[in-house]
Amino acid sequence: MSVAFSETGRAEFERLLTRYPDGKAVILPALHLAQKEFGYVSDEAIVYIAGLVGTSPAEIEGIATFYTMYNRKPVGKYHVQICRNISCSLLGAEHLIEHVSKKLGVRPGETTPDGKFTLAKVECLGSCGTAPVMQVNDEYHENLTVESIDRILDNLP
Ligand code: FES
Repeated sequence: MSVAFSETGRAEFERLLTRYPDGKAVILPALHLAQKEFGYVSDEAIVYIAGLVGTSPAEIEGIATFYTMYNRKPVGKYHVQICRNISCSLLGAEHLIEHVSKKLGVRPGETTPDGKFTLAKVECLGSCGTAPVMQVNDEYHENLTVESIDRILDNLP
């Protein structure tokens, strides 16, 4: 099944092309756009972007796989990403991940059966000074505790 950007997505892509010096430089923002439009970066999206920027799907796939912010599989309505790197880990990230895993009934990498949450353990989110940190979709939550995580997750519509 082939995919294509919506009219708005296509206009956004054209705008990106004017801002970046060559087709290759536009790959990262194009992947970001694909994730926004399609929910995740599917194999079809990779072929589509390769066609748009004039490179091979293998090159796009290598980039999409290297950067962990691109989801190669469908994710739930809320993508709950908890940092497990050193600063967060020293402040109990593993315990928090275990707590969320039990609370949602899924392991990292899995999505709840209702499609609401996908849980992920991720590398440094770049906010080590306010560890432990979790990113839910585009939003950061810092200085986490079991209680604050519960509050955040319970209040998501
Ligand atoms: S180690 Fe967790 S945000 Fe950097």
